[in-house]
Amino acid sequence: MTTHDTSSLTSLGKQYWLPVYKPRELVLDHGKGARVWDTEGRDYVDLGAGIAVNALGHGDPDLLAALTAQAQKLWHASNVFYTEPPLRLAEELVSASGFAERVFLCNSGAEANEAAIKLVRKWAAAQGRAADKRVIVTFKGSFHGRTLATVTATAQPKYQAGYEPLPEGFRYLDFNDAAALEAAFAAGDIAAVMLEPVQGEGGVLPAAPGFLQRVRELCDAHGALLVLDEIQCGMGRTGTLFAHAQDGVKPDIVTLAKALGCGFPIGAMLAGPKVAEVMQYGAHGTTFGGNPMAAAVARVALRKLGSSGLLANVAVQAQALRDGLAAINTELHLFDDVRGRGLMIGAELAPAYKGRAGEILDRAAARGLLLLQAGPDVLRFVPPLTITAEELAEGLKRLRAALADFAAA
Ligand SMILES: Cc1ncc(COP(=O)(O)O)c(C=O)c1O
Repeated sequence: MTTHDTSSLTSLGKQYWLPVYKPRELVLDHGKGARVWDTEGRDYVDLGAGIAVNALGHGDPDLLAALTAQAQKLWHASNVFYTEPPLRLAEELVSASGFAERVFLCNSGAEANEAAIKLVRKWAAAQGRAADKRVIVTFKGSFHGRTLATVTATAQPKYQAGYEPLPEGFRYLDFNDAAALEAAFAAGDIAAVMLEPVQGEGGVLPAAPGFLQRVRELCDAHGALLVLDEIQCGMGRTGTLFAHAQDGVKPDIVTLAKALGCGFPIGAMLAGPKVAEVMQYGAHGTTFGGNPMAAAVARVALRKLGSSGLLANVAVQAQALRDGLAAINTELHLFDDVRGRGLMIGAELAPAYKGRAGEILDRAAARGLLLLQAGPDVLRFVPPLTITAEELAEGLKRLRAALADFAAA
């Protein structure tokens, strides 16, 4: 029997899903803008956007029109044949990027990073570098995905434990430590440096001013590639279409996913001039990547997320969110630090509350607010980039109530 009762629905997840997730006790049903309703009719303000995915909010009419128009025509063709949407999307991504010459389309962030890792290795191999001279440097606190190679690139032991043996050829350094990177290059075996301009899962930590430029200089000096993972921080989230535009660097490879499809699965790897011709026929592939429905949606997402009106809204609402968090903190003294860029903001809990972000998320849900954490100590705010002043004010009101509940408990 079909039922809309929350506990009978969630019990299906508990019984049948591989228990790798711990979702909150609610079942979401539909959404509009930055609001979502559950199956029992309760409404939530969404400050998480499906982990920085629903950048145009829920129910965007242009995304829906593009998806349904393509769904009427052709769902899938594979890369054995051309369809129009992925051809146009690739051209538009190249043109928007200002550095890339070619694009590989896939279905997720991990796949985009997997492609980037393989491209680095193939490039290094083509240069005649021995296998032990194809090291990829990543940074502690990073997150690059859950496939075996991308989880190895992810320099956080908690994601790797138990999956050994891990692929070789990764080295981990402290984020924002340019001196350590310079020293590491002395070994002469580094083929690439891969990083998020703003670390997401690791606690919403932006690259320090000048760090990316220094990484670029060191990569150039030592013949290494610069790979930027903009899967979470890209597509307008930090106030520019590409986050690295604010760091004044030209990368060799950029990966995108999440907001590229605004909720429809798609990923992309953008390749600059040094690497665009390295992978030739048969070197890599995917059945679903470049799916015409996903590409049709992503074309609309790219156009709307790069528009000046949307990017202006990011700046305005980011300030409103920061002001709101500061006001809450003046009253409740829960945060040590509020940081981030654009609408990618982390509030780190003060020492007395460390490790309790999950509890706050439960209380937020009970007050009608969808919120994320970035590790156990940081509340993460990544709302739709279209969020209105009214939606944000309501979200902050609910957040204040949830945090007051938490502080009083
Ligand atoms: C920076 C970054 N890279 C890669 C990924 C992996 O993306 P996906 O979950 O689509 O495989 C994520 C997901 O959170 C991410 O935030």
